[in-house]
Amino acid sequence: MAVPTDAELVQAQADLWKHSLCYLTPMALRCAVQLGIPTALHRLGGTASLPDLMAALSLPQSKTAYLGRLLRLLVTTGVLGGAAGSSSSSSTAAVYRLVPLSYLLVEGVRIDGEASQRAVVLAATSRHYLEAALGLADWFRKDVQLPGAEVPAPFEDVHGARLFEESMADLDPESDKVFHEALAAHDHMGIGLILREGRALFEGLRSLTDCCGGDGTTARAVVKAYPHLKIHPRRGDDGSVNYVAGDLFHSIPPAQAVMLKLVLHFWSDEDCIKILAQCKKAIPSRNEGGKVIIIDIVVDPSEPMLETQLLMDVGMMVCARGRQRDENDWSTIFTKAGFSDYKIVKKLGARGIIEVYP
Ligand SMILES: C[S@@+](CC[C@H](N)C(=O)[O-])C[C@H]1O[C@@H](n2cnc3c(N)ncnc32)[C@H](O)[C@@H]1O
Repeated sequence: MAVPTDAELVQAQADLWKHSLCYLTPMALRCAVQLGIPTALHRLGGTASLPDLMAALSLPQSKTAYLGRLLRLLVTTGVLGGAAGSSSSSSTAAVYRLVPLSYLLVEGVRIDGEASQRAVVLAATSRHYLEAALGLADWFRKDVQLPGAEVPAPFEDVHGARLFEESMADLDPESDKVFHEALAAHDHMGIGLILREGRALFEGLRSLTDCCGGDGTTARAVVKAYPHLKIHPRRGDDGSVNYVAGDLFHSIPPAQAVMLKLVLHFWSDEDCIKILAQCKKAIPSRNEGGKVIIIDIVVDPSEPMLETQLLMDVGMMVCARGRQRDENDWSTIFTKAGFSDYKIVKKLGARGIIEVYP
């Protein structure tokens, strides 16, 4: 390549600073969650000045200017809204406000029926996640000797434990609890939207198996929205839904449709093919309305959310053994699992809803 021009060098240097330091954006976000800034703003009516926030957070006066600098970065990166002087670090007239992103981090407020996303921030910015990411280069250099053997994630190499398994609980029970809270918050967010936007998915159905349904929250929401639906996990006489864990590699309760919501991204391609083959055994033919409903990220280079999708993919590579897939990846595993066709029926933010037909 030609030697960069002066203008290109100035830009490249600024870009390099940005790319080397932009880990401070999630660190500032973590600090905001730990200090309780979104919750304080909410209690103050959604907007507040720097002195109001200092008082509400009970921070020492000596830190006023420092908080102003943190808030300025949070406004610039879109975590908070700002008005009247919020680009200054010390303006007492500056006003900071909640925006949808920071509203997700308010304690005690249920959004679309579900809990705040604070645990997601605390898990994703935890020492364990960051140390795993710092181990990436060593991990790349390490060969896996056994052909076909699953490749342990950097998280496992660095910590000697697997996320969401007993080994993690043994290593650090407190962090394990945060990781499980984060998983639940991540999984539950958006169920209401899926049920509203995906009416056509469920309306004609007689029965559904919610495969790997976590704590049963999704199944309960589906039953509430579509009371006619016979659903596994089973509904008790009192209307409650009992989540019964089965092994998705061995038997999936039969139903007209099987739903895999935020499940397959956690598994390798080989495992996804095995899981989908079990799903196929559990459903009737396409003519009889058999289908698998998959809710997961569909990586799409034409999407404005591509960078988020790729961060979710590399995040998965660092911490677990799964991956995020583009349409071609999905199509390949559907064919290998013996399905004849599929349709991406809806895109909801970074995620998509796919119907797969036997
Ligand atoms: C990502 S969570 C569930 C997400 C859930 N579908 C939702 O949208 O809320 C994955 C779930 O799969 C369960 N799981 C993991 N391995 C499994 C297996 N072999 N058979 C059945 N369930 C499994 C875990 O216990 C966990 O509850």
